[in-house]
Amino acid sequence: MDALQRYTAKGHYQVQGWLWPGAIQLIAALAGLQRNFGVQGGMGEIGVHHGRLFILLHLLSTPGERSAAWDLFEDQDQNIDASGRGDYARLLANLQAHGCDLGRIQLLKANSMELDSDQVRGVLGGGARLFSVDGGHTAPLTYTDLRTASEALAEGGIVMLDDFYNEQWPGVAEGALSFLLDHPDQLFPVAIGGNKVCFTHSAEWAHRYQEALARSGPGAHKVSELTGKPVLVFRFPQHRGSWLGRILRRLYRLGR
Ligand SMILES: C[S@@+](CC[C@H](N)C(=O)[O-])C[C@H]1O[C@@H](n2cnc3c(N)ncnc32)[C@H](O)[C@@H]1O
Repeated sequence: MDALQRYTAKGHYQVQGWLWPGAIQLIAALAGLQRNFGVQGGMGEIGVHHGRLFILLHLLSTPGERSAAWDLFEDQDQNIDASGRGDYARLLANLQAHGCDLGRIQLLKANSMELDSDQVRGVLGGGARLFSVDGGHTAPLTYTDLRTASEALAEGGIVMLDDFYNEQWPGVAEGALSFLLDHPDQLFPVAIGGNKVCFTHSAEWAHRYQEALARSGPGAHKVSELTGKPVLVFRFPQHRGSWLGRILRRLYRLGR
């Protein structure tokens, strides 16, 4: 078993954070399609907490690709809606524990309100092929982070947004819908599943991904619409946090 297989099977349960099994399936499927389509680029995330999703993104990267995460880390006084709590030391330990190549990773302290796509491209050495938006969950932060992420995409790149349909975080839907309606040609929905909404930068790319996902995707789905554009909605088993995950997490914490 390689590091990616170990992490998707059990390892992610040892990292505190938010990543549903359905999201792992969807992201792995998208990364597989990117390989087939020849899409290349860096892996990025705004809002990394302890690295639960970022580790997966990095393990899906190839040796020539860079990964970067932006978070407030110790500047939690700027975390205005208390969405998670980045922890640099814990993140670093988790990256090491799960077989990440630290030589290809940058962890950057930033308030994402001050981050732009040129900075992202500079750090990644080009555009991003998978970029997660999971930082502050207010409407203005979601709007700004989606703009940064969408402007930083590589050809065929994907932005994934967390908590769009989570009733605990209404600012995410507000910020995302405002951005999508203000910029109808910037992001095109691809798929919804596992608490993620995934977008790409053109209708052609969205269609290409959707055709392939519908043929050999990660599970049952239906075709729906988001802001008047087609989107595949995947139906994964309800996420309740598995008993195995809870036990593994407890054992892991006891061992630290
Ligand atoms: C929900 S957590 C991220 C969860 C993570 N993606 C995972 O895989 O578990 C949100 C993160 O965003 C960070 N954050 C909140 N506001 C931010 C801001 N304005 N700029 C950058 N990071 C921010 C927090 O410190 C926290 O680590």
